[in-house]
Amino acid sequence: MEYVELARAESERGELVLRERRPHDGPTAVELRANGVFVMDTLEVSTERALASAALALVEHPAAVVVGGLGLGFTMHEVLSDHRVEHCAVVEIEEALVGWMRDGTIHHGPALLADARVRIVVADVAIALTEAHPASYDLILLDVDNGPGYLVHQGNAALYEKPLLSAARQVLRPGGALAVWSADESPDLAAALESVFGNVEVTPLDVELQGHDERYWLFAARMD
Ligand SMILES: C[S@@+](CC[C@H](N)C(=O)[O-])C[C@H]1O[C@@H](n2cnc3c(N)ncnc32)[C@H](O)[C@@H]1O
Repeated sequence: MEYVELARAESERGELVLRERRPHDGPTAVELRANGVFVMDTLEVSTERALASAALALVEHPAAVVVGGLGLGFTMHEVLSDHRVEHCAVVEIEEALVGWMRDGTIHHGPALLADARVRIVVADVAIALTEAHPASYDLILLDVDNGPGYLVHQGNAALYEKPLLSAARQVLRPGGALAVWSADESPDLAAALESVFGNVEVTPLDVELQGHDERYWLFAARMD
């Protein structure tokens, strides 16, 4: 296996690295790593897309969508492929990553960001949701960690707890929904969503990641 570093940045949360993985016997992929931990790659993105497609299917009029966590842009791409979406705010905490999307270090970045419906906000999504106007979005998609059980940043723990989920609920319009991607089947998150929204749907998603079978999870809760 050969790795080629494409970009590296430091922030108050630590190190962010973008690198190309070149196996001798398989396709090349771009990987995003935070503090030495694998966050995602460009090869297996079915669940990043499913986060968007499954949640979009729950909402009749998803005109305004918030995506928490830009990553390599696959959830956002899926949101934009839905013509009902008029505005897509993407909240990303790492400014450097947004820069790599804009300047083409991430090849598909400039084309994605050229969509006039996209607004990139460099911020902590927990703060952005707390400060957003009530009833201003139809769909909130959260994929900022490897899930509540595998936080990329410890500061994100509160995102999966009742006060922040209640703040997110306030931001949703009637008929809207909140969906969360997770690497683990978190009963605590299911319970918190159930208690805030009065309902929760938990869906397993099986994928193969670099030769290993993995099961990821989608959590979705709907407004009345
Ligand atoms: C797993 S990636 C998102 C992948 C994305 N769904 C995709 O399709 O490419 C997680 C992203 O969330 C960002 N992030 C982590 N904590 C955040 C926070 N509190 N607010 C906003 N973005 C955050 C990370 O920097 C990273 O870009």
